[in-house]
Amino acid sequence: MDVYDTILSRRSIRRFQQKSIDNAILKKFVNAARLAPSAANLQPLEYFVINNKDLCSKIFETISWAGYIKPKWIPNQEERPTAYIVMLVRDTKNPWYIRDVSLASENIVLAAEENGIGSCILCKIDRDKIKEILKIPKEYIVDSVIALGYKSEKCVVEDLIDSVEYWRDENQVLHVPKRKLEDIIHMNEF
Ligand SMILES: Cc1cc2nc3c(=O)[nH]c(=O)nc-3n(C[C@H](O)[C@H](O)[C@H](O)COP(=O)(O)O)c2cc1C
Repeated sequence: MDVYDTILSRRSIRRFQQKSIDNAILKKFVNAARLAPSAANLQPLEYFVINNKDLCSKIFETISWAGYIKPKWIPNQEERPTAYIVMLVRDTKNPWYIRDVSLASENIVLAAEENGIGSCILCKIDRDKIKEILKIPKEYIVDSVIALGYKSEKCVVEDLIDSVEYWRDENQVLHVPKRKLEDIIHMNEF
């Protein structure tokens, strides 16, 4: 897949096959994150990789899933993520760290997509609980978590008409509205 095709095909995936991801593949994702652009090249990020079953179930309990799906939905036992990467910030005084996390996260989700692995960036998480479960030293910030696993969900992009809310149809396909190109681009004039 070339980069553009990978960008087009990636969607946030919240249902996964129960097939484990090799350590080497997970390390490859962290390596992709490590090489992302970094403000002043300060590199304030570290990564906690989880693919141990017991830890995965503990982390699962700290996550809020798909806020727009009603009634409240969570992945069932047979469709939970098989790995997570927790995005940690070491230098919390760095004013640009959120940009660094965002760029590193995009590298991870694109590398995952290229390897046929689904991902979902998660920020609605219980950070204190995650720190406690993983015994993260208090000087670190838990910024976000990226859920990973082989995909067990179909998603399609559609033009945004009047709502940003993603929705599932009767076949469980997730529809993700995106603003149209002509609505957001300003070429040479506003
Ligand atoms: C910063 C950020 C935080 C997010 N937090 C959550 C979350 O807590 N739970 C969740 O299910 N999805 C979360 N998502 C996924 C978004 O819902 C998803 O990116 C959006 O609906 C667009 O879908 P797409 O990623 O398939 O393009 C988050 C995405 C971003 C970028």
